Formats: sequence, C-alpha cells, structure tokens
Amino acid sequence: MKVTVSRKAHFNAAHKLFRSDWSDEKNKKVFGKCANENYHGHNYELIVSLTGEINKETGYVYDLGKLKNIIKDEVEEYLDHKNLNLDIEDFKTINPSAENIAILIYNKLIPHFDENYELKITLYETPRNFVEYSG
Ligand code: NI
Repeated sequence: MKVTVSRKAHFNAAHKLFRSDWSDEKNKKVFGKCANENYHGHNYELIVSLTGEINKETGYVYDLGKLKNIIKDEVEEYLDHKNLNLDIEDFKTINPSAENIAILIYNKLIPHFDENYELKITLYETPRNFVEYSG
C-alpha cells in the first residue's frame, strides 16, 4: 500500500523574468511585474512529497525529520535570501520562473531517494499561484 508523506518549507528570494533579446516593452508585456528592472522578492512556499511503501518496522514511508534536513541543506541553504538571477548558476541562462525553480529543486533532491520513492515538488510563488513537478 503506497502512501504520500509531505514536508513544507519556505524560502525568500528575488528575481526578475526577462529575455535580453527582447525589447523592454515586450518583456513587460509577457512577464508583467516580474519583468521589473530592479528585481523583486517572493515568499516561496515549498511542499516536498514522497510516495512509497510503509516500512513495516517503523510505520513510516520516510522519516520526515530526515526529509526536513535534506530540504534545509539542498534547498533553503541554496536559495534562501538569494537573487536567483545573479547568485544561482542555473539561472544565468534560463529564467527563474516558478516552473524552472521547481525543476531545479527536484533535481537537487532526487539523488537522495532510491527508486522505490516517487518525488513531487509543489512550489507556491504567491498564495494563489503554484506549480507542480514530479520528474
Ligand atoms: Ni516575480
């Protein structure tokens, strides 16, 4: 019987969305406020979910204390209070959209779990806007 367990986390980061090969006018039209020249912040809310079998000895699918520490080391330390465009190598060439941030988080976390687990990332950029990625 497979069960999904989840851990919530949080980080603050700044970004702007733009393409240098587009005019300012086109960037503003496509990316709206997220194209603001001087960056702006978001309070990102993250939900990391693992689906797997319940361990018969522990009753756990995964130790959530352990998951908390992995998220802290791989995601919070890496992204919290950063300027995503300037500080994060991955976003030198692609836009730090919620979609691309979710994929980055997935790729940083997936090596920690064996093939018996399914990993899913849910990332809220605002309370109403969120993206999901599961590989
Ligand atoms: Ni934005």
